[in-house]
Amino acid sequence: MTPSPLHRILDFANRANPYPIYEELRKTPVHHEDDGPYVVSTYYEIRSLLHDPRISSDARNLASTAHDPLAEPAQDDGALPPSFLRLDPPEHDRLRRMTNRSFGPPHCPRRVDGMREELHGIVSGLIDGIGDPGRIDLVDQFSYPFPVTVICRLLGVPREDEARFHTWADTIAASLDPDPDADPAERGKGAHDARMQLGMYLAGLIEERRRNPGDDMLSELATAKSPDGTMTTMELLSTAALLLIAGHETTVNLVTNGMLTLLRNPDVLRRLREDPRLAVPVVEELLRFEPPVQLVPQRTTLADVEVRGVTIPKGASLWLVLASGNRDPQRFEDPDRFDPDRGDIQHLGLGSGIHSCFGAPLARLEAQLALSELARRLENPRLLEDPPPYRQNAVLRGPRHLHVACDGIRP
Ligand code: HEM
Repeated sequence: MTPSPLHRILDFANRANPYPIYEELRKTPVHHEDDGPYVVSTYYEIRSLLHDPRISSDARNLASTAHDPLAEPAQDDGALPPSFLRLDPPEHDRLRRMTNRSFGPPHCPRRVDGMREELHGIVSGLIDGIGDPGRIDLVDQFSYPFPVTVICRLLGVPREDEARFHTWADTIAASLDPDPDADPAERGKGAHDARMQLGMYLAGLIEERRRNPGDDMLSELATAKSPDGTMTTMELLSTAALLLIAGHETTVNLVTNGMLTLLRNPDVLRRLREDPRLAVPVVEELLRFEPPVQLVPQRTTLADVEVRGVTIPKGASLWLVLASGNRDPQRFEDPDRFDPDRGDIQHLGLGSGIHSCFGAPLARLEAQLALSELARRLENPRLLEDPPPYRQNAVLRGPRHLHVACDGIRP
């Protein structure tokens, strides 16, 4: 029997190149398998559903839906309550607004741009420390430590605690991915324990920040008063955990996918080296071409919703395959070509609608700085392995290692 598209997406053997599966999937824009989620793969339909108030992100609605191999527990399991990623309005909007007061305009217009010099310093330090240019693991030596250091600085989490929360963050991120060989009960328990431990760790830190506030985001979130009131301790914990995990499990893949794509497209790499301003369209095209978040699972219909002649019934589970929408030929000309010169790159790589990526300005700045500096400083870089080995995760997709050699490191 031919495996279903759903199983082929999840099959690790297809991780290096899932795009032919998506192409096939788009022939049935709304695909449904027995007792499984409805999988939507075309650009306009995904975008419209991301803006549809009848589509819920609330983890508590999902708990009662049909079998979905990606469904998380509703998170009212004594660990952390759902973060605003997994809530609907008005709770979502209130928490996102309150968080944004410590992150972006109009209240905090300098937070991200004010980190530019610091980010540059972190990038330079990591490239200076590369050691043997004949064998670099770009993931371990650069793409992973960079966003982790940045999110720690932003939140005010001590960098030396990274080893502790790295394990929890990895376990939580892995729980998004249904490893067919893993025991679901075991994995659920692992994720619950990781959320519990991360919560306890953050509770200690927040307590400390309340006593001695700094200029970091955690201190501000813990002490801020806004027209929406103050966050409860539990809201603060799940918001901090969300930022910590979202802030480092995604950017690592954007930077690694970015370098891999540039090394496969040496003309663009050369142009970026000569003109770092090209980093802006390069990063946007990367978010279309190789998006670190391949699909958004865990959405539920609050009513019957008709999409391209298919009625998705109330209470159904939905997967929105962003990476497939980004390669939809109905929307993008020659979609399988990496082309930062395309005039219009309105990709779905950072989502769309009310849940669109909160950290987008930071993610963009990090990737622009990282890729333009790597292009400038690595002399004659080349891939030692293509395709590289991938992480297991089908949702947060990216290489586990990227082995690169170069002739030297420019100052
Ligand atoms: C390249 C890096 C990144 C990518 C590709 C990315 C992608 C995404 C996507 C696709 C969503 C929408 C999820 C959905 O609709 O369910 C999202 C939401 C979110 N992202 Fe990012 N993200 C990145 C970096 C970051 C960073 C650095 C932060 C934190 C500083 C962050 C914080 C968030 C938060 C808090 C949400 C939830 C927004 C909401 O529910 O209103 N992300 N991200």
